[in-house]
Amino acid sequence: MCGIIGYISKEKGVSKKIIHNLKKLEYRGYDSSGICLLKGNTFLVKKSVGEISNLEKKLDFDDDFNCGIAHTRWATHGKVSLKNTHPHLSQDHCWAVVHNGIIENFLELSEFLKTQCVTLKSETDTETIVALMALLKGNDNIKKLNEVTTMLVGSFAICLLHKSEQVLYVARRHSPLYVAKNDTSCMVSSDPVTFGEDFETYYALPDDCIAKVTVDKIDVYDKDMNKVCVSASEVGSFEKSAELGKYSFYAEKEISEIPKVVDTILSNYKIVDHFKKINKTFFRQIKKVKLIGCGTAYHACLMGAKYIQDYAHIEAQGYIASEFRYSKPLIDKHTLCIFVSQSGETADTLLSLELAKSKGAKTLAVVNVPYSSIAQKADVVLPLCAGMEVAVMSTKAYNAMLLVLKLLATHLSKFSETPQNIDYTELKKVNYFKDVQKIDQITNLVLKSEKVFFIGRGEDYICALEAGLKLKEITYINCVSIPSGELKHGTLSLVDNKSLVFVIATDQNLLAKNISSASEIKARGGKIVLVTNLDDVQCKDIDYVYHFDKITPKLSSIISIIPFQVLAYKTCLKLGYSPDKPRNLAKSVTVE
Ligand code: G6P
Repeated sequence: MCGIIGYISKEKGVSKKIIHNLKKLEYRGYDSSGICLLKGNTFLVKKSVGEISNLEKKLDFDDDFNCGIAHTRWATHGKVSLKNTHPHLSQDHCWAVVHNGIIENFLELSEFLKTQCVTLKSETDTETIVALMALLKGNDNIKKLNEVTTMLVGSFAICLLHKSEQVLYVARRHSPLYVAKNDTSCMVSSDPVTFGEDFETYYALPDDCIAKVTVDKIDVYDKDMNKVCVSASEVGSFEKSAELGKYSFYAEKEISEIPKVVDTILSNYKIVDHFKKINKTFFRQIKKVKLIGCGTAYHACLMGAKYIQDYAHIEAQGYIASEFRYSKPLIDKHTLCIFVSQSGETADTLLSLELAKSKGAKTLAVVNVPYSSIAQKADVVLPLCAGMEVAVMSTKAYNAMLLVLKLLATHLSKFSETPQNIDYTELKKVNYFKDVQKIDQITNLVLKSEKVFFIGRGEDYICALEAGLKLKEITYINCVSIPSGELKHGTLSLVDNKSLVFVIATDQNLLAKNISSASEIKARGGKIVLVTNLDDVQCKDIDYVYHFDKITPKLSSIISIIPFQVLAYKTCLKLGYSPDKPRNLAKSVTVE
């Protein structure tokens, strides 16, 4: 979603620096972008709709700027237009602002501003921030910022410029914001991924704090204007792992990294033993487990709940975070709430975590981004070790979530009467991409069909959910995922000779049932692709069988999704769409 860059330097050339770093935020999803550069006592503002390259074309002047702010906008309040694109200026043109998040009391603030004869030019909530800044009297700008933040309700990361100062004023509540410094420059960013090239360390601005950033120093203050000391974090390999390298698209690169990610998790959890680091009492007296996430992470929650219930015999359930938050969940100190998130910033998951904490639950985060808000707020963190994921379609992070949740379930089983003994080294031997070239043929079947269905039972049903999500999010093909056993209860009425049904079958015990579902589909004219790693599947009704590599049934759910990740990617390319940036979607959904 929205992204912020602010840059201040002793050297000229800041507009190029800003655009270069703004491009690193493209992966988060955006629909317009803008920049405000400061020279003398005037702002130069440029905005454009669509790709950042459109904005870049408008910067056809000498880059002799030392200071500026910029933004990628993902529309929430007000349509995609130049008028609504950030930065926004105050009426007197003294202040410029870029903002991530949502100002929830923006209507009240707009009404108040009307009484002060301020007419807002855009439809955004953001413009109220600069309007309020301009209303306040006096010269102490950091105090003014403090005063304005007390008037704002909601979530925000903001970066402001005043036309007469080479200073970046920043503030945050719930939305993340970071500042990095080297000998010549300071940079403000909503994502540390941008710091890799020019900075070795950076500071995470604490929640509900504001800061004054000059080229020489960063002063951070809390709500009561007390100075706050913030410790620096190293710019690590995670932040540097976003290079595309030899690949054409991040989706392709990230799918190809799955075997490496599995390897990294297995060796990292062996060397570091994250479970040993957790206080022994943490897992004691847990009576139920709730796993909470959104999108792909929610599917990992469903799978994790199965693993935990099957191995540790503790009641476990997966929840969609946006539902969980408003469901009055029954939680107490004997409940373990697990928050699963690639980014660690998804608003609904983060707010669910706060709810669980307020009810006294034990909280555990399974996250990929080590410095994320969810990682910081949970009692215990299990890292995904997947390296940075850039494509909006989550792939390697999903496989990583499943593996880490399986390691957790195996660990929890030690407290039960039937400790599990799983040979994870099998994951080092399996061929993750066996026969993937054959998927081209299946792609053609998808393109010839009017309706696509994914069905399975047990873990294969969860695979069907994730397979459907992958296909629809990047190919825009409408598809349905349901448990095989539910076909007869409604969805079978949709099946006809224009339908393609993927039957996923990895459990020998349920194979016969899946085959009979296939026959029901065939009888209605539907085409069937069986995706399996079982031997000797005999069924005349199946049109195409895709075999992925054999592995012990206990581990097959970690790899059974791969053919579908590849299928979605290949279909997307054949349709001529962008696999990395699907329309209307964002990588990290930081607003409700
Ligand atoms: C967005 C992304 C999805 C992701 C979901 C949850 O919708 O496009 O790919 O699964 O958010 O994200 P998280 O970072 O919490 O895993």
